Amino acid sequence: MEYSVSQTSRTVVVLAAGEGKRMKSATPKVLHPLLGRTLVGHVLAAATAAGADRTIVVVGHKAEQVEAHLAEIAPEATAVLQAQQNGTGHAVRIALEAAPDLSGTVVVLNGDVPLLRAETVASLVAAHESQARGATVLAAEVPDPAGLGRIVRDASGNLERIVEERDASPRERAIREINAGIYAFDAAALREALGKLSTDNDQGEEYLTDVFGLLASVGRAVGVFVAPDAEETLGCNDRAELASLRALLRDRVNTAWMRSGVSILDPATTWIDVTVSLEPDAVVDQNSQLVGSTSVAAGAVVGPDTTLIDTSVGAGATVLRTHSIGAEVGPAASVGPFSFLRPGTRLARKSKVGGFVETKNAELGEGAKVPHLSYVGDASIGAQANIGAGTIFANYDGVRKSRTTVGEAAFVGSDTVLIAPVEVGPGAYVAAGSAIAQEVPSGSLGVTRAEQRNVEGWTSRRRPGTVSAAAAERFAAEGDGAAAE
Ligand code: UD1
Ligand code: CA
Repeated sequence: MEYSVSQTSRTVVVLAAGEGKRMKSATPKVLHPLLGRTLVGHVLAAATAAGADRTIVVVGHKAEQVEAHLAEIAPEATAVLQAQQNGTGHAVRIALEAAPDLSGTVVVLNGDVPLLRAETVASLVAAHESQARGATVLAAEVPDPAGLGRIVRDASGNLERIVEERDASPRERAIREINAGIYAFDAAALREALGKLSTDNDQGEEYLTDVFGLLASVGRAVGVFVAPDAEETLGCNDRAELASLRALLRDRVNTAWMRSGVSILDPATTWIDVTVSLEPDAVVDQNSQLVGSTSVAAGAVVGPDTTLIDTSVGAGATVLRTHSIGAEVGPAASVGPFSFLRPGTRLARKSKVGGFVETKNAELGEGAKVPHLSYVGDASIGAQANIGAGTIFANYDGVRKSRTTVGEAAFVGSDTVLIAPVEVGPGAYVAAGSAIAQEVPSGSLGVTRAEQRNVEGWTSRRRPGTVSAAAAERFAAEGDGAAAE
């Protein structure tokens, strides 16, 4: 495709009508997620990257759900309904019937083969077109071919036919070269052969694979392209296979990032979606997941034990043991440990969200700090402001949410409740333990505490015989000198 200079039009047909019974899922198989895309999303991404001019997706089982997903991720693709799943040949026949003008090369991809690389699709197409064949199948040598179609070659190694395991002779079953379910066809040859498919097989289905025998029998060239990496051809039939594909893709993604200069300290416990972007010299520590549109800039350190969903991390920032969704962490900012950043969190350069702090719709200005044990909801905090330990931004009155503004270099004492809507002016102070519901003007101190009263001798009178009473009595006998030790 992109590697070829010819002007042949390339159409990709993705087969995605099957239910995937062995997944035992209410979700159609091709919609199961795998590191940032659905199974069919990966296949479509490979098709696009390989330069498909046109994409048709054959849908069937839970078609509305699959179509809705396609509209979201690949609006340019055409969905074609295969109401009854009468086999892979039937599926492609229906796709071609929906596109009567189609010519050039038709690439057929399985919707459940998500590790296939765009480069491999392009090489398959290049091999197919350069030989002017009627059909070329992508094959792979695998250790365990169980359940898959086998590539049957003649004495000189040419493709004779593709046989399904259940229709194969014992000798054919011993073949370890399998059909990956991925093909390139000449559109006209394919159309003609599909019209001749029979259902004379163990499943009573129209087999796409029979196109090879049919074309060969009329003297049309058919061939095999062997996948450079058999791993790419793995399909997904149940959850266990999905988990192994996920681990393989994790390794592929992590290796690529490490080669591009990202430090991944423990690749086996680091899960990075294919949609994430990382800059060289970013560091990802163990047990971390980077999800969706997350990005991490140069020199930032993420993890250990961190999940970032749709979160951007600026250069040189640190994000330690944190769960974050929809947040922007500015350059050299610091987050964690045990922080929870929620959507709309925007942390400017060098700001800090410390241990056990939750933020939502919260902006921290440059160098602002919320170091310990706070909830910051619907707030703007000015540059250099300091929010004391245990401060709560009370943003919800049970009916509506309101905003709090804390001005530049304001200082909010520990254990304060800021009851929104409320404003603390630039350079204002709030005394520890206050409940602030009215504006604290710039430069003022806001205090709402009751005055302190000490009841002398209370411990000995009301808690006689306790260790506390004994300590107080000893202190009274020994005087201040002992207390100062
Ligand atoms: C098919 C091949 C087999 C190959 C294997 C690779 C045939 C007859 N056999 O096996 O040689 O080794 O793929 O995975 O083609 N689908 C439809 N409509 C249908 C039937 C299937 O859209 O009527 C879709 C499925 O959703 C799936 C793909 O086609 O995405 C392959 O179907 P599946 O049943 O998994 O493959 P097999 O027929 O077992
Ligand atoms: Ca089948």
